[in-house]
Formats: sequence, structure tokens, C-alpha cells
Amino acid sequence: MSEITHGLRSVLSYSRIYDFFQWIMGAKHGRAIFSSEYIKARDRDYVLDIGCGTAEIRLFLPDVEYFGFDPNAHYIEAAEKRLRESHKTGALLHATLDEAALVELPKFDIVLVSGVLHHLSDDEAIQLAKLVKSALKEGGRLITIDPCLVAGQSFIARYLVSHDRGEHVRDVEGYQGLMSSVFSSVACDVRHDLARFPYTHLMMECML
Ligand SMILES: C[S@@+](CC[C@H](N)C(=O)[O-])C[C@H]1O[C@@H](n2cnc3c(N)ncnc32)[C@H](O)[C@@H]1O
Repeated sequence: MSEITHGLRSVLSYSRIYDFFQWIMGAKHGRAIFSSEYIKARDRDYVLDIGCGTAEIRLFLPDVEYFGFDPNAHYIEAAEKRLRESHKTGALLHATLDEAALVELPKFDIVLVSGVLHHLSDDEAIQLAKLVKSALKEGGRLITIDPCLVAGQSFIARYLVSHDRGEHVRDVEGYQGLMSSVFSSVACDVRHDLARFPYTHLMMECML
């Protein structure tokens, strides 16, 4: 994983600071839209959240079987607290998901990779996509969201997106090309209205 781990952006690996920045961005509003218009989970769906962070998205999902993985122990601790306090169900694991871990898991209707791809090199992203492929049920969907560079976006959005902690922020073709090397269908949608200030997100829905 490539991320900037020095200076101001390094403190974002602490869950409270990460959540505070998410609050500044107006992430709750964005997550509500991400959930209702893109994830579209239904009760009893199996949902795997790879790189779940502090698992705020769980608050916006219905009565699903939720499994969250993250390599950052601070985030998983905060995610456990969040689920406990909000009386939401879910299994949280402090680990980087791999083939061995997948063997122990059920197959999933929905896999979420939210805010992760822009931290991964092309090779790492393709490896992750292959892992997702073997985690999905037939007809299952991978849903992603990441900051994105697009022609004509506002100067502020371009500046913020370019200075993200993740070192692999791409344009639409960059993200889509990677996922298309593993999935037969990759639908993309760009939005500029998910944050409190000018910012550009790309959502992808990938199917086998
Ligand atoms: C920007 S945060 C997004 C967290 C959460 N998904 C969200 O939407 O708020 C990126 C997350 O990806 C995790 N991560 C980084 N590299 C990863 C990898 N190779 N596999 C899974 N998760 C990873 C980080 O620990 C971090 O929690």
C-alpha cells in the first residue's frame, strides 16, 4: 500500500483524527448517498468491506451480514466501538484479506472497496480485484468509491484530490482500466456533490 506517512497526513492513521476529517468532509451525507444509490444492499445480503476503516458505512446499511477487514488496528478498534454503540451487527477483523482468510468466509452478494484503490499500486489493485472475484457469489457486485481526477473539475477539487494521502489517485480511465482487466462489466459514475466542499468521487460497480 502506498500512502503518505509523514507530516499532517500521517496522523490520519489514528481513528479519531480520521473520523474528524471525515466529519469535516461531510462524509455522512456522502455515505448516505453512496449506500442508497450505489451499494443498494438488502436485508440479509452478505457484505464484505475490504479496508473498512472505522466502518462508518455500516450505519447506512440495512440488516445485512457484515464482515469488515482492515490492516490498521486503531481503525478496527474504533469500528468495534462504533458497532457496539450503534447496536449494529457485524464481524470485524484486524487483517489484510488474503486467499487463506477467504476460505473461512461465505460468498458475498456485495464487496465494498471504499477509499482503498487510490492507496494501491496497479499491481496491488489488480491482485485485490482478483481476490474480490473469488469472494463474490454469482451475480454479486463489487462497489468502489475513490477520489478522481477529471477534466473540468473545480480547481479546489483538483487540488484536494491531488493532495490525498493515497499516492495512486487516478482518472476515470485509470481506475476503470484496472477493474476491467478482471471484471467483464465496470460501470462508472463521477460525482462532485458528495462532500461539503468541492471534491470529485468516482463510483464503480463491477460484475463478473
Ligand atoms: C481512506 S481509508 C477508507 C476507510 C473506509 N473504507 C472508509 O470508507 O472510510 C483506506 C483504508 O484502507 C485500508 N487499507 C490500506 N491498504 C489496504 C489493503 N491492501 N487491503 C485492505 N485495506 C487496506 C487502510 O487501513 C484504511 O482503513
